[in-house]
Amino acid sequence: MVAMESDSKFLNVGFLIVATFVVAKLISVLLIPKPQRRLPPVVKAWPVVGGLVRFLKGPVVMLREEYPKLGSVFTCKLLNKKITFLIGPEVSAHFFKAEESDLSQQEVYRFNVPTFGPGVVFDVDYSVRKEQFKFFTESLKTTKLKGYVDRMVKEAEDYFSKWGDSGEVDLKYELEHLIILTASRCLLGEEVRNKLFDDVSALFHDLDNGMLPISVLSPYLPIPAHRRRDKARKRLAEIFANIISSRRQTGKTKDDMLQCFMDSKYKDGRQTTESEVTGLLIAALFAGQHTSSITSTWTGAYLLHYKKYMSAVLDEQKNLMQKHGSKVDHDILSEMVVLRRCIKEALRLHPPLIMLMRSSHSDFSVKTREGKEYDIPKGHIVATSPAFANRLQYIYKDPDTFDPDRFAPERDEDKVAGAFSYISFGGGRHGCLGEPFAYLQITAIWSHLLRNFELELISPFPEIDWNAMVVGVKGKVMVRYKHRELPIN
Ligand code: HEM
Repeated sequence: MVAMESDSKFLNVGFLIVATFVVAKLISVLLIPKPQRRLPPVVKAWPVVGGLVRFLKGPVVMLREEYPKLGSVFTCKLLNKKITFLIGPEVSAHFFKAEESDLSQQEVYRFNVPTFGPGVVFDVDYSVRKEQFKFFTESLKTTKLKGYVDRMVKEAEDYFSKWGDSGEVDLKYELEHLIILTASRCLLGEEVRNKLFDDVSALFHDLDNGMLPISVLSPYLPIPAHRRRDKARKRLAEIFANIISSRRQTGKTKDDMLQCFMDSKYKDGRQTTESEVTGLLIAALFAGQHTSSITSTWTGAYLLHYKKYMSAVLDEQKNLMQKHGSKVDHDILSEMVVLRRCIKEALRLHPPLIMLMRSSHSDFSVKTREGKEYDIPKGHIVATSPAFANRLQYIYKDPDTFDPDRFAPERDEDKVAGAFSYISFGGGRHGCLGEPFAYLQITAIWSHLLRNFELELISPFPEIDWNAMVVGVKGKVMVRYKHRELPIN
């Protein structure tokens, strides 16, 4: 009897504990507010494929439509993926500054692996990639650039000497060609430039044509363009292996990027392999070729269209010629600040890389300039767009107008608005390592043209080719030229 009473007491106590726990849980669920995730607004689209269709119509078209409605942070659903846009310096700072372990490039840029080849850049862990990017930094430091400039100037002189006294040319084609010649000389080395240029540029052409929009989704799809790409990559590896082994055998060293990569060593003392050197050179050419030639063409189109800026850059050339004679070197190119502002403005209006992306591995929050906060969950693709963000009205006065003086010291529009207001070269952790090289190359070309030719744009002002992987100029840019030496007075 006593035992039964104690059993039921025990049951009652147990029941009381469970009941208290259930009631407490109910109260906590019903009454205590849980911190809600403040997810960004979502782009309205038809179910399943709607977001993808809108995105494929052109990311910048979508941004133009959605930014005024949804603000600087919003998500677009692409089938099973969510892509969140961060537009403007207030919300994109994390994009540029985050650690690779939080926001990584590898997954979103992996489609480059068959082009660059195995063992480099997006095919390796961040720790190795970081070391490889150090090799880039080393090969593009100021002492090296000084040597490259002399070759850039020489290439421009040789190239334009073939134009003759007068004629009509497609400026876009001419600048593309000159830039690959210059890149070959400075980056790939004189063996390629002097003896193998035609072979190597044809192979690069095949690599280039193997990078299609479909390659981003399915880089190994067995299509003819991918097969040609793979064949070209293999042949390039053979060509560079021969050059590298011949340089090593003869012990002759050269002053180019190829040599820098050959001489680079990892922290553990390991030397770069021939395959890695080839891959890094291909990556450099891909990073710099279209981007620089497109920017040179836009710069030319704007200078030829706006007489005011043409006469400003001509005056600057005259002043420098009075000061230094006809000599052009690294330091003199660095004095061409008016021309540089024109290049920077052409690049603000037309950044060739219109969208930069990362894959998010951890949740993070952003605060808009209006004070709204959003939580972006891990698993999202995170993107920003130089083509859209470079034209924000609260940063740039009359943002669609070509106005290089906005970068003059008294206005400094990109600096006034703070870091990440001008993102044609990206910024932060993965900012472009070739920016100084690109400016020097484009300045050297335009300085030569301004000093030696009278130019006139004879086709309509060019339009943007939004369909290209690296967004550039649509169609030909026809120019009439007449040789003349720029009079100093
Ligand atoms: C006008 C010419 C150029 C433009 C507009 C440009 C633009 C860019 C942009 C936007 C990025 C950042 C990508 C991202 O954040 O996802 C970048 C990165 C890079 N660029 Fe350039 N680029 C130019 C020329 C060059 C040249 C000439 C080279 C080398 C010779 C080069 C080498 C690189 C490298 C190695 C990176 C990767 C940096 C990293 O991830 O740490 N670029 N470039």
